This record gives sequence, C-alpha cells and structure tokens, in this order.
Amino acid sequence: MRKQIAAANWKMNLSWQKGEALLDAILAKEYQLTANRTAVFAVPFPYLHLAQQKLQGKQNVFVAAQNCSNKKSGAYTGEVSAEMLQSLSIPYCIIGHSERREYFNETNQQLAEKTDLLLEYNIIPIFCCGEPLQIREANTQNAYVAKQLEESLYHLTTEQVQKVVIAYEPIWAIGTGKTASKEQAEEMHAFIRRQLAQKYGQEVADSISILYGGSVKANNAKEIFAEPDVDGGLVGGASLIADEFSVVIDSL
Ligand code: G3P
Repeated sequence: MRKQIAAANWKMNLSWQKGEALLDAILAKEYQLTANRTAVFAVPFPYLHLAQQKLQGKQNVFVAAQNCSNKKSGAYTGEVSAEMLQSLSIPYCIIGHSERREYFNETNQQLAEKTDLLLEYNIIPIFCCGEPLQIREANTQNAYVAKQLEESLYHLTTEQVQKVVIAYEPIWAIGTGKTASKEQAEEMHAFIRRQLAQKYGQEVADSISILYGGSVKANNAKEIFAEPDVDGGLVGGASLIADEFSVVIDSL
C-alpha cells in the first residue's frame, strides 16, 4: 500500500546513549502521523531491539534494519539473517544502499536474493537504487536505474512487489549537500513508476511507495515531498539532528 514515509538512516553513527536521546527528542514532539504517514528509524543492528522497545506503543513509528544477509542461515560470521530480524519483529529492512553496493560489492542478484528472504519472513524491503555522478553526467540514469529494478525486483510476483518500498538515492546527492532538484527527483520517480507500470500494470505501480534520498534536509523536504511521485524520504545526516528530522517528518 502506498504510504508517505519519513525514514531515518543512522548508518554507522551514534552510541546507543546518543541514539536513545535522539529518539527521545524526536518523539517528544507531536506529529500528524497515520497508517499512511509514518516514520521509520533504520538503526544499527545492536540497537534494533532497544529501539523497538523504546518505540513500543508509539503509533505509526517503526524500526528498520539497514541490511540483511542474502543467505538464509549458516557459517557467515557477522551477518544478520532475515529470520533473525523477524524474530525481533522488525518490520522494515533497507537493502542495496549505495554504500553497501560500493564498499561491500553487493550485486543486483544478491539484492534479489535479499528481497526474496525478507518477503519470505514478512519484512518490508526498502530497496535502494540510484546512479553515480558519471552516469548522471552522461544522462544515462534511466537505463542505469531500470537495470537495477529489472535485475533485483522483476522476478517478484505482483503480490510480492506491492510489498516493496523503493528508495531512489542518486549517489551524487548522498552526503554531499547537493540535493537533487525537485524536478530531477520527480522525473526519476515518475520514470520508476512508469517502469513498474509497464511490468506490473498501473494500479500496482501506483500502490508502491517511492522515497527520495540524498541530502534531504529540513529546508528542502517539503518541496521535494510535494512532488506527485515522491512518497517521502530516506534521510541520512539530517536524521541525526532532532530538530531537522522532526521537520522532515512534518513535511510529509
Ligand atoms: O540512506 C539515506 C542516505 O544515503 C542519505 O544520506 O546524508 O545525504 O541524507 P544524506
């Protein structure tokens, strides 16, 4: 179901004490959240259960993992499985973030496997896609993102793909302060939705949330989120600052 989502990606930041204080500061404020306007906090693995406990009873606010293994279980030291996330009742999991694709050489095929495992354990994948600067400068970003969608998601059934949240994160905008313009964001989101419509039909495409990520801040979230095919954001740096992320949530 297509929701508006303000998602925080803490990445590898904050002690639990600082993270707990950040959650307290953000959650101390009132938001107009509903079943269709939600906030999600993607925290480091060790904090998942602690954050889950802290959000207990908070309506329309959820915890997410930042990754999961493409293996079901076994001798993969340091990895975390979809089954482990399910055992903690974690509802969302980011996969395919550009930093994992770059630093950990994650492939579209591995992300297809991660998607399958998350769906098997009833966890909502937040599937990241997006092009590097050289691709944008060559104006071949549409083909680049279409390939990511095709190779990681198009094996899914109609019922399965409707459970996936997509996050378009142009790599050249991540952590750079160079936010994509609202026109650039809408252009790619509309393209992604057209691609999904070609594969699965317009009704299915219109039911999928597509988030924008890449230097979303308090001062640009409202105009980006107002675009017709933008369904919220996946926020890094600004999600570590209570006043910033509170405005992002209110911008949905
Ligand atoms: O996953 C969201 C992240 O990649 C965006 O980071 O710091 O540009 O908001 P940032």
